[in-house]
Amino acid sequence: MKHWTLDQVAWDRFDPSKVDPEVIPLVKAAAMVERNGDDYALYLKSVFRDDPDFQYAADNWAVEEVQHGDALGRWASLADASFDYPAAFARYRAGYTIDIKADASIRGSRTGELIARCMVETGTSSYYTALGEASDEPVLKEICRLIAADEYRHFKLFYDHMKRYLARENLSFPKRLRVALGRVGETEDDELAFAFHCSNDAPGVAYEHNRCITGYMGRAMGFYRFRHIERGMGMIFKSIGLEPRGRVSGLAARAAWKLLCWRRDRYRQAMAREVAANGNALPAQQAA
Ligand SMILES: [Fe+2]
Ligand SMILES: [Fe+2]
Repeated sequence: MKHWTLDQVAWDRFDPSKVDPEVIPLVKAAAMVERNGDDYALYLKSVFRDDPDFQYAADNWAVEEVQHGDALGRWASLADASFDYPAAFARYRAGYTIDIKADASIRGSRTGELIARCMVETGTSSYYTALGEASDEPVLKEICRLIAADEYRHFKLFYDHMKRYLARENLSFPKRLRVALGRVGETEDDELAFAFHCSNDAPGVAYEHNRCITGYMGRAMGFYRFRHIERGMGMIFKSIGLEPRGRVSGLAARAAWKLLCWRRDRYRQAMAREVAANGNALPAQQAA
């Protein structure tokens, strides 16, 4: 059961004068990844094929993720009338495929799979909170608030199932830690970069991972504040069985914040170099 619907969003409050142009390419890219949730649910249902409770939960989860994509896609279409959300998503779906018939989790265990899901929901919950707080545009603010609340519920959902499997599989702490760090490290892989390409580059422009992940991260990382990282670190600690609000979590949050600021500045410098070289960090947009 969904906690909200697209019809409940006050779309008529959309205010183009309050749109930060730097946010539009991010919302477009996020719409791709969110909309792809239904394929990810097929993968999850294949991994957990003998667990009807989890399969039911995965179906409901996917309905909400698809709605996130549709809400973000609709907002992006309001902010940029030239954005063709269905066409962009068709490109994404054609080029980024998930093994939907997996016999076992790519994380090595079901506990590991669910820890990886907790990492993703931690990331999305923090990201939409940060984006919504930073935005002045009322509709985007509302959508981000609704989505962030869903993402936090998803975290709790996967966490509860993870605890159930942990009791059965007894995955060791080092293995849990490795899965968690591994999934966090994948943030800069193709999923987001390719989504940025499909939703922002004109058809015919070649996909370049570095350019696309720079375009995405150089903008996205600027919206975080320390409090978002601190809260996210608590969720990561909880997922792997550590004290979420202890001294170690606080130290880890400060280290992660320093790393994020450093990475953000590096990406921004790379974007500035691209602007200097091409005149626009999104060269394909000019052509579109
Ligand atoms: Fe989502
Ligand atoms: Fe989610």
